[in-house]
Amino acid sequence: MRIPLIAGNWKLNKTRSEAEALAKAVVEASRGVTHAEVLLCPVFTSLETVARVVAGSNVKLGAQDVYWEEAGAFTGEVSAGLLKDIGCTHVIVAHSERRQFFGETNETANRKVKAVLKNGMTPILCVGETLAEREGNKVEQVVTEHMRGGLAGLSAGELAQVVIAYEPVWAIGTGKTASPAQAQEVHALIRRLLKELGGEEVAAAVRIQYGGSVKPDNVKELMGMPDIDGALVGGASLKADSFAALLKF
Ligand code: 13P
Repeated sequence: MRIPLIAGNWKLNKTRSEAEALAKAVVEASRGVTHAEVLLCPVFTSLETVARVVAGSNVKLGAQDVYWEEAGAFTGEVSAGLLKDIGCTHVIVAHSERRQFFGETNETANRKVKAVLKNGMTPILCVGETLAEREGNKVEQVVTEHMRGGLAGLSAGELAQVVIAYEPVWAIGTGKTASPAQAQEVHALIRRLLKELGGEEVAAAVRIQYGGSVKPDNVKELMGMPDIDGALVGGASLKADSFAALLKF
């Protein structure tokens, strides 16, 4: 009942022409894919290019970040309304790289989640611990804080529209994937927290993606776990053949 969501987070990569070529290849590879939703999240400057390529296909468009105010004197920022206007259906919120390098907090994540929902798009709220936090037995504490903070004040109806991405920081871009059992353990925790926040129905409906060195050779095992409902993919989404292979999990 939860349709898996396979998303490519291109991070800070690809010129417009490279983005166009990759998006075309993904559209081609996604033809006939009905077992999953496919989403591409390019750099802001390529959103319009990719929007044109995916129009009329079953590939969706997402942004990698957003600002919570609608308009005004906020130099350098992009609002949810503008992302909606360009064709985005999804927005990644509080990716660990934004937490690490750009001062993202649970409070700013919460404002962003609300702005995205207000504009009728799907926020993908990223949660997950660093290596030090895992080694300090703080996984449950950190993930609980990310969840409760990022989702504070949402109604059950709003919660049901959110996607969560569990991305252990130590597994991102390192080639070290969480084992399916390690990932499942945290996904089950996230599902329990969703139940506490929004009730049984919300917990059953919300998709929880795994992210962190997802590759064609480990995707199937990860996707086989009961609470893993998709993947948020960095490196392996930058090449058409590896992303196409991922779609065949
Ligand atoms: P990698 O797939 O490159 O580890 O990146 C994961 C990620 O951060 C996706 O958002």
